[in-house]
Amino acid sequence: MTQRRIFVTTALPYANGAFHIGHIMEYIQADIWVRFQRMQGHEVHFVGADDAHGAPIMIAAEKAGKTPQEFVADISAGRKQYLDGFHIQFDNWHSTESPENTELSQDIYRRLTQAGLIYKKPVEQHFDPVKGMFLADRYIKGECPKCHAKDQYGDACEVCSSVYAPTELINPYSTLSGATPVLKTSDHYFFKLSDEKCIAYLRKWLDEPGRLQPQVANKAREWLEGKDDQKLGDWDISRDAPYFGIPIPDAPGKYFYVWLDAPIGYLASFKNYCAKAGIDFEKFLADPQTEQIHFIGKDIIYFHTLFWPAMLEFAGKPYKTSKLYVYVHGFIQLGGEKMSKSRGTGLSPLRYLDVGMNSEWLRYYIAAKLNGSVEDIDFNPDDFMARVNSDLVGKYVNIASRAAGFIAKQFDGVLDFPDEAESVTVERLARLQFELDTIRDFYERREFGQAVRHIMGLADRVNQSFDAAKPWVLARDSSKAKELHGVCSRAIEAFHALTVSLAPILPRTASIAFRDFLKFEEKPIWKAHNFRQHRIGSYQHLSNRVEEKQLDALFEIPKDTKPVTASTPHATSPSKTEATASVASATHISIDDFAKVDLRIAKITNAEHVEGADKLLKLTLDVGVLGTRQVFAGIKSAYDPATLIGKHTVVVANLTPRKMKFGLSEGMILAASGDSPGLFLLSPDSGAQPGMKVK
Ligand code: 2FM
Ligand code: ZN
Repeated sequence: MTQRRIFVTTALPYANGAFHIGHIMEYIQADIWVRFQRMQGHEVHFVGADDAHGAPIMIAAEKAGKTPQEFVADISAGRKQYLDGFHIQFDNWHSTESPENTELSQDIYRRLTQAGLIYKKPVEQHFDPVKGMFLADRYIKGECPKCHAKDQYGDACEVCSSVYAPTELINPYSTLSGATPVLKTSDHYFFKLSDEKCIAYLRKWLDEPGRLQPQVANKAREWLEGKDDQKLGDWDISRDAPYFGIPIPDAPGKYFYVWLDAPIGYLASFKNYCAKAGIDFEKFLADPQTEQIHFIGKDIIYFHTLFWPAMLEFAGKPYKTSKLYVYVHGFIQLGGEKMSKSRGTGLSPLRYLDVGMNSEWLRYYIAAKLNGSVEDIDFNPDDFMARVNSDLVGKYVNIASRAAGFIAKQFDGVLDFPDEAESVTVERLARLQFELDTIRDFYERREFGQAVRHIMGLADRVNQSFDAAKPWVLARDSSKAKELHGVCSRAIEAFHALTVSLAPILPRTASIAFRDFLKFEEKPIWKAHNFRQHRIGSYQHLSNRVEEKQLDALFEIPKDTKPVTASTPHATSPSKTEATASVASATHISIDDFAKVDLRIAKITNAEHVEGADKLLKLTLDVGVLGTRQVFAGIKSAYDPATLIGKHTVVVANLTPRKMKFGLSEGMILAASGDSPGLFLLSPDSGAQPGMKVK
């Protein structure tokens, strides 16, 4: 086998908020693949970094009263707990705000200039005269030119859905200062993606087999060739000061647009790591055998399949690479709904860890759901519990726990196959190796779901033959000792192969199983092992069952639910993150922000306990013109449901409905609480009617 040299990355998260479950899913996917490749004996380097630049982060930092550098450093400091918690083993975590990234971005830019692919042209744009900065469309609001709804964004009306240019807005204003924007011209730098040599290169690049999933290559081809006369445009790679970014050489006051230096951040993190690990960065990159692999979400295909390969190619050696692969995944949804990132609903990875759930359960569940395509995956709490309990505990761990007792008690902890000839053992090991080879192929193609199904099919067969041999009956008859020894040793031999095949997904369990139970000294590799005359350790419990109450705790609204500032590698463009970042990190909100919350008087028409929930009551609310709503409220500790019926309270009526384990929650009622115990439902003065607005 030739040893492969692989450099793997995941999309760099914006440094404006904590990781959300979408990030964790991507990291788990890549981490499983990396661990798998390492077990094949390949040289793999796996790096990540924070994507630190851009106007949204600059503005969020200003609102938080920090420098952008301080702001991103604070975010970065919060990463470790997630990565460690979910056993995600990056070799290095760096930042695009780093000397390496500045040097590499400027170098690549200079080389692209030399290749004749950079030009400058004047661009007219909105400018905020108070802030003294150019405004992206998303920072401009005004009256919709069609339906005259107030406070609509510069690109589309949320009320009548019409799409327009910001110049068409009536009475436009800057959301940053409130000032009326003026049009102003400045020079921008462009990357000439429409250049014939770029187009020709990308055509060829997209056609090379194995580089991209077929549906991803098709999408990229559509953009490249242009659809409905929409020719592929050149790429505006500069932004004017003030901007948090990397200065463009020889262009005072101009910075690289964040999406130019973000992918270069992959190389920057790797370079930073190479210096620490004693690897020759340039030599590694320039090696034609080096595979460069990016795991990303489906929303950022455009940047990774057009700009990025063209940038690398035309920057020349050592950047150009013939083995660049982009592996795209879909989104993760909760009960079929896309997870909301701004309201703290959905599956919070930190809460998952905080409530003490085993991170390998999530790794296993995500692996079982993932395949090599771009499909979205769904987190379903009941399915999660069923799979983890029936597969991991009921099938896999069960094998070791049942066989180990006999081996310890009757055979002094030593495995052996006295009931069969060595040739039979060897033949069986070859069959086991065949299974491992099949599973290897699934992992290689990122068909983790198929790998898991195959592994569990094998576990089923092992359990069945163990049961069929009835070792508990054999154990009662001393003349059957050899048979019993063989039956239990074969089960443990298979348990070893199962552990090998699950190790990329369950690194912690596997390492305990190898080290403490199997007493397997060698570094685990993808190979069935002959355990004849091998002494194992005593069996310690390897995995617990998921309990209903843990899922309750995971999905119950914690008392201090705050909006989670979540960066999103899965938004369609950097702009989506912006709204979240700028709003959520501010200490003050504007009256416009407050007006977005639809507070209504609600009458509680029914209240009841929820079976299996420690903290929740299920309320039925009459919200007048808005109809009836079902809401789950974490107030069980303070209220007897019977006393609530007939009361009036206040409900947040326009909260995105949230799918909970017990059903849909269609709003949130308001209650007060402080440091001392007690929870107090808000109620209006008498006379307030259901459906009335609270302003
Ligand atoms: O969409 C995002 O979250 C970007 N921060 C991803 C950047 S990936 C790479 F280019 F750095
Ligand atoms: Zn409108």
